[in-house]
Amino acid sequence: MRRGSIVRLTIYGVLAGIVASVVAVLVPWLPTSASEEMDRIEFTFWFTTVICIAVFAVVAAAIVYSVLNFRVQPEDETDGPPIHGHTGLEIVWTAIPAVLVTAISIVSAIVLAKNDNTGPNPLRISVTAQQFAWKFEYPGGDKVVSGELVLPVNRPVKLTLHSLDVIHAFWVPEFGQKSDAVPGIETTLVITPNRVGEYAIVCTELCGLGHSTMRAPVRVVQQAAYEKYLADEAAGGAPDETSGAAVFTTAGCGGCHAFAPAGTDSQVGPSLDAVDPQGQPLKDFLLESIEDPNAVLASGYQPDVMPNTYDKSLSEEQLDALVQYLVDGQEGSE
Ligand code: CUA
Repeated sequence: MRRGSIVRLTIYGVLAGIVASVVAVLVPWLPTSASEEMDRIEFTFWFTTVICIAVFAVVAAAIVYSVLNFRVQPEDETDGPPIHGHTGLEIVWTAIPAVLVTAISIVSAIVLAKNDNTGPNPLRISVTAQQFAWKFEYPGGDKVVSGELVLPVNRPVKLTLHSLDVIHAFWVPEFGQKSDAVPGIETTLVITPNRVGEYAIVCTELCGLGHSTMRAPVRVVQQAAYEKYLADEAAGGAPDETSGAAVFTTAGCGGCHAFAPAGTDSQVGPSLDAVDPQGQPLKDFLLESIEDPNAVLASGYQPDVMPNTYDKSLSEEQLDALVQYLVDGQEGSE
């Protein structure tokens, strides 16, 4: 190959590499990391991306060079020269990708193993998913349960995921890790948050009409603030657990129903601001509609959309509190 050709090939390759690098760096492909696991996932992503950019630059340079140098001249109708392959080139373009793919596999395997490893003493939090809400049970003697996930910074957390009805999936984009919550089995997920802040859990498994509303807040705080949160929840938590407003939130009613006192405005199910009890006493009608949602359907709404598991997942006390909360919140009442 002549010297001039090598110089031109190199220039094309460098230009293609610059274009690809600009696209890789300037577009925010990933959310800002907030966990050690996400840091490792980002490393894997960039390790692979750099290799891809190098391969792209070589291939693009060869294509551009070939198009410019070997294109057929006008009115040239002769056959091209017979070419019989090039053993040296073929060995090179098989061996180099094999080495690169092996390197990516090794890096990925190490990251997967590390991202599954909690270390000796993780914080264990139980996560329960149901249509369309998340519930978190914290360790310790006080059995704190809340609809918000609060995590201390820089401590490995092992989440055990359960589902009461269908398959859901736990994902916080900034934490990177993702896992399904499957009815009947227990799945786990390891997270080591390393950036204080507020994030959101997103359900990423289509789980029903309220799927897109199935979110819950996550706060990463200092250890002291975490302990204070648990203490506050434990102190005020016991009566609050069974207050109608708390049940409305933890059972996920607001995921589908508009209700002014709770500040929700979802349109998946009928509004609860002015319920028409269809001639029944309001309390009886509300309780029946919670326990057996298909008994009376609001006009324009389909059967089997609302879960029919609340008579089992909520205690009698919680159901009464929820009904009373809805009664008190009716438009026109005090
Ligand atoms: Cu739960 Cu989608």
